[in-house]
Amino acid sequence: MSTARMKAVRYHSYGGSEVLVHEEVDRPVAGAGQVVVRVAGTSFNDADAGLRAGLRRDLIPLALPHIPNLDVAGVITEIGAGVTGRRVGDAVVALLPPTVPGAAAEYVAVPAESLASAPRTVDLADAAALPLVGLTAWQSLFEHAELKPGQHVLINGAGSAVGGYAVQLAVGTCATVTATAGARSRDRVRSYGADRIVDYTETSVPQALAGQQFDVVLNLAPTSLEENVRLVDLVAEGGAFVSITTPGPEDAGRGVRTMRVFVHGDAAQLAELVARVDAGELAIEVAERLSLADLATVHARASARFAHVAELAARVEGGHLAKRLRADPTAVHGRPVGEPLAGKTVLTP
Ligand SMILES: NC(=O)c1ccc[n+]([C@@H]2O[C@H](COP(=O)([O-])OP(=O)(O)OC[C@H]3O[C@@H](n4cnc5c(N)ncnc54)[C@H](OP(=O)(O)O)[C@@H]3O)[C@@H](O)[C@H]2O)c1
Repeated sequence: MSTARMKAVRYHSYGGSEVLVHEEVDRPVAGAGQVVVRVAGTSFNDADAGLRAGLRRDLIPLALPHIPNLDVAGVITEIGAGVTGRRVGDAVVALLPPTVPGAAAEYVAVPAESLASAPRTVDLADAAALPLVGLTAWQSLFEHAELKPGQHVLINGAGSAVGGYAVQLAVGTCATVTATAGARSRDRVRSYGADRIVDYTETSVPQALAGQQFDVVLNLAPTSLEENVRLVDLVAEGGAFVSITTPGPEDAGRGVRTMRVFVHGDAAQLAELVARVDAGELAIEVAERLSLADLATVHARASARFAHVAELAARVEGGHLAKRLRADPTAVHGRPVGEPLAGKTVLTP
C-alpha cells in the first residue's frame, strides 16, 4: 500500500530562514497514544526560529529533516491505540513537544496528552494563536509569580502576544495592572483592561514608575541584565520578578524572588485558557493570516528581532548558546525582510 502524501514545510539542516522548504512528504499515521490532526492553523513563535537555527541543539536535538511549528489547531482524523476520550471529528488545540514533527503541514501526529478541545467561539485556525503564548502568560502569572486578587502587577512588554494574554489574565484575577506598550499596541492593551499604560518608547520605564512598588513585575521584553536590575527595584519586598526573556539577578535581596520562565506543555492549563476564551474573558488576537507557503518569509521578517533576543540570552547564559551564535551567526541573523509585526501570525496549509 502506498503511503499518503501531504504538503509540509521542512528544514533538512539547521540554518537561516532560507533552509525552510515547502515540499511533499509522507502523511503521518497515529502511533500508540497519538491522534492525527488535520491542521486548520498553526502559528509562528520565536522558539521555532531558535530551533531552526539549531541554537538549542545540545538540549533539544531534532531528527532532520524536521517539520517546524509547535502550535496547532485542527480536527482529529485518526485515533491511535490506547487513546481514550477523543473522537474523529473533534476540534482540538495543542502545544507540541519541540522534538516531534511539527504542525507546519497539512496533517500532524499529536500526543493525546497534549490535546485540549478547541474554543467554540473563534475561527478554528485562529485558535492556533493561543497555545504557546497563552501558556507562557498563564505559567508566568500563576505558577511562578503566584498572582493573587488585589495585587499590583507591572507587565513590561504588554504589547507582545504573550503580553496580550498576560494583561487579560491578570485583569481577570482582579489584579491592578500597569503595562508598558508602544503607540501601535497601546489601545489594544487598554482595551484588555490595563489600569495604566507607560509608553516605553517615549520614557524610561523605571524612571516613569520611580517610587512605586509592585507585588509582581512580569518582564516579557528583550531587556539587558542592567535593565532587569532596575525593574527588580520596582518589586515590593517579598514580591516576585518573573522574566520570559533574560533573567533577573539571582539574589535580588529584600525577599524578592526572581524567576526565568521556559514554557512547558500542559493540557489542563490549555483547557483553562480555552474555557476563558469561550466565556468571553480572553480574546485571541491575530495580527495576520497567511498561507503556510509563506512560513520562510515570516521567519525572515522576524530575524532581526530574534537575533537581538538570542544575543541577549547568549550574553547571560554563555556556554553552548554563545558558542553556537559565534560559530554560525547567519543561522540566526539570516537576511531580514521587512518589519516584524506585533502579535501573532497564523498560517493555514
Ligand atoms: N521563555 C519562554 O518560554 C517564552 C515563550 C514565548 C515567548 N518568549 C519570548 O518572549 C518575548 C515575547 O514573545 P511574543 O511572541 O509575545 O513576542 P511579540 O508578540 O513578537 O512581541 C513583540 C512586542 O514586544 C514589545 N516590545 C519590544 N521591545 C520592548 C521593550 N523594550 N519594552 C516593552 N515592550 C517591548 C513590542 O510591543 P509594542 O507594540 O508595544 O511596541 C513588540 O510589539 C520574545 O522575546 C520571545 O522570544 C519566551
